[in-house]
Amino acid sequence: MISFTLLNNKGGTGKTTATIHLAVVFGNKGKRVLVIDNDTQANTSNALMPLDVPIKKCLYDIFLDKEPTEELIPQVIYKTNYKNVSIIPNIEETSALEVNMALDFPNGIYILQESLFKNKYINDNFDIILIDCAPNLGLFTTAALMMCQRVIVPVLATSANSVRGFQKIIELIQEFEQEERSVIDSYNILINGVDRRKSICKVIIKNLKETFDSIVFKSFIPTDSGFETAEMNKQTIFAIKPWSNGAKLFRALGQEILGTIK
Ligand SMILES: Nc1ncnc2c1ncn2[C@@H]1O[C@H](COP(=O)(O)OP(=O)(O)OP(=O)(O)O)[C@@H](O)[C@H]1O
Ligand SMILES: [Mg+2]
Repeated sequence: MISFTLLNNKGGTGKTTATIHLAVVFGNKGKRVLVIDNDTQANTSNALMPLDVPIKKCLYDIFLDKEPTEELIPQVIYKTNYKNVSIIPNIEETSALEVNMALDFPNGIYILQESLFKNKYINDNFDIILIDCAPNLGLFTTAALMMCQRVIVPVLATSANSVRGFQKIIELIQEFEQEERSVIDSYNILINGVDRRKSICKVIIKNLKETFDSIVFKSFIPTDSGFETAEMNKQTIFAIKPWSNGAKLFRALGQEILGTIK
């Protein structure tokens, strides 16, 4: 099993979109995928939870229990309508629990590592974990960083702001890598929202490649209105516009990442 965290403290850079589309690509390739919605906005849960399935137990219960029992883990996992893709959903109420985690610092930041990453049921039943994070570097995000081997940082090619402060995230990931209990072994940058007609895109891509060349994914995701249409309809771009560049590039990105997994 290998675990990925999708991380950027800037909002709207494509963390959720990438989580969902990569999960579907990996699932179609026969990988058993577990998505963890680690954002209390619950956008990933809204996208992936089947409409007729009520959420009873979820990530809230993991954070609440501090030391979740073995029996709880299968109860927080739900099958989605996508082949081989399951999810641990989240709810808005979870946000209140970040205070408890602060009071219990640093123990709380290891909760996902202890209860999910090291869990036998999860290791036996899943090949890939994808964790979608909120746009901040708070304690829930820290807990995700403590259970992931790889970090994917989506950045918008159209926004200088999305690239500014980027060095800070890289430094933070590097700091985490040094942590005794960290399992991080690599991190990559995903360039999202590419519009080749815009000169700002060309400048940003050039800068990112010059500074971070070896860690920039080769597959860039183009701007495509199909992503918003898909989101509105609880779909993916593969269903809405299967032959669009957006769909093709996400399939290519999935392949690129699978090529790096044993
Ligand atoms: N390549 C793209 N082309 C067009 N629209 C996109 C693209 N990627 C994402 N979007 C749209 O941009 C919005 C933000 O994307 P998304 O929700 O994935 O970002 P996020 O980083 O998860 O945001 P947040 O930080 O709030 O969690 C969504 O409406 C999504 O459909
Ligand atoms: Mg999101």
